[in-house]
Amino acid sequence: MLSRPLTVAVVGATGVVGRTMIQVLIEREFPVGELRLLASGRAPGRIVDVGGRRHEVREATPEAFNGVDIALFSAGGDVSRQLAPRAVEHGTVVIDNSNAWRMEAGVPLIVSQVNPDDAAAHEGIVANPNCSTMQLAPLLMALRDSVGLERVVVDTYQSVSGTGGEAVAELESQIRAHVDGRAKEASVYPHPIAFNALPEIDVFLENGYSREEWKVVTENRKILHLPDLRISCTAVRIPVFVGHSEAVHVETRGPISPERARALFAAIPGVVVRDDPAAHVYPLATEAAGRDEIFVGRVRRDASVERGLAFWVVSDNVRKGAATNAVEIAELLVDRGWVSRASERRLNGSAGMVSGRPEPVPAVAGPGAAV
Ligand SMILES: NC(=O)c1ccc[n+]([C@@H]2O[C@H](COP(=O)([O-])OP(=O)(O)OC[C@H]3O[C@@H](n4cnc5c(N)ncnc54)[C@H](OP(=O)(O)O)[C@@H]3O)[C@@H](O)[C@H]2O)c1
Repeated sequence: MLSRPLTVAVVGATGVVGRTMIQVLIEREFPVGELRLLASGRAPGRIVDVGGRRHEVREATPEAFNGVDIALFSAGGDVSRQLAPRAVEHGTVVIDNSNAWRMEAGVPLIVSQVNPDDAAAHEGIVANPNCSTMQLAPLLMALRDSVGLERVVVDTYQSVSGTGGEAVAELESQIRAHVDGRAKEASVYPHPIAFNALPEIDVFLENGYSREEWKVVTENRKILHLPDLRISCTAVRIPVFVGHSEAVHVETRGPISPERARALFAAIPGVVVRDDPAAHVYPLATEAAGRDEIFVGRVRRDASVERGLAFWVVSDNVRKGAATNAVEIAELLVDRGWVSRASERRLNGSAGMVSGRPEPVPAVAGPGAAV
């Protein structure tokens, strides 16, 4: 374990996730010596108040990573593709929140409760999963380990904060326009999001899935070490500000009762069972917002299969779905002494094996709203 305070950079420090990353670093008393806040060069000289100390937001350039131990990236895939390898060349360990590196060989994709040991293999970049994957993988892990997974079907109900600050503002302005009797203008999404449900998150792929849906498929397979897992997803954006909800149907290999599933779920660190439907108790986005836990409820037998469960999962997409898990990865790297390998790489004159661009996923149409 490192005993010295670390130099930590947050890339995308002015964004929804970046600001929450700073907050979570403070809350969890991460050993930050110097905090370097980085964003685009669009508005130089911005000041952010962090715990009563004023920090200037600097432009994210390759040189800005000089001396940085850990960089938390949350500025979109293009920025990560360009700058993460440059940061690694400076000896920085990158924890990347975008979808740029998640499926690359040599880049561990980590949910802190599920596969922390995978992070040992990092070569400079560790990827933080998509928010919809994040809240699902711990529950699937428990079922994988107890009775085995045959097939998973998940439908998501995702909040606008998952798209970023502009989408939050767009929902607010459309609600105001509705109250005032004005037309609702949409620019972030292809249709008004207020009072609507949009089955389009990220671009559409040649296989008919949206890229968001396909991330849930491929990322769960990688995290759970089940490359052939049969899993399907429909991802829907809804007019909720914070908190993603998911309806999950799992066909299991062995039999499992709802009672046993609840006990297994309750035993997972960071998972809370809220399941008393008769008293109207089940997970809600409004209650999950601002919390770090994953909430699960409505656990019942899936009547459509011989062995299976249905349940409802809710989590704060900005916290556990992005910022909190990123900081948990940083804690893991520090606790296990896996940060110092960065300076070894620098001394050896190697940038690690992450040096090129990952293959793009073939896309056919749609607005970019990658998470
Ligand atoms: N929101 C979620 O729930 C969630 C969950 C998982 C993953 N993510 C991912 O996290 C990333 C950020 O999401 P967000 O919701 O925080 O978005 P956001 O609110 O739109 O913030 C974007 C951030 O990126 C910075 N940025 C933009 N272009 C840049 C550039 N060329 N160089 C450096 N910084 C640049 C922006 O800085 P300026 O202020 O200078 O423009 C801002 O700080 C995305 O990759 C997203 O897919 C989000």
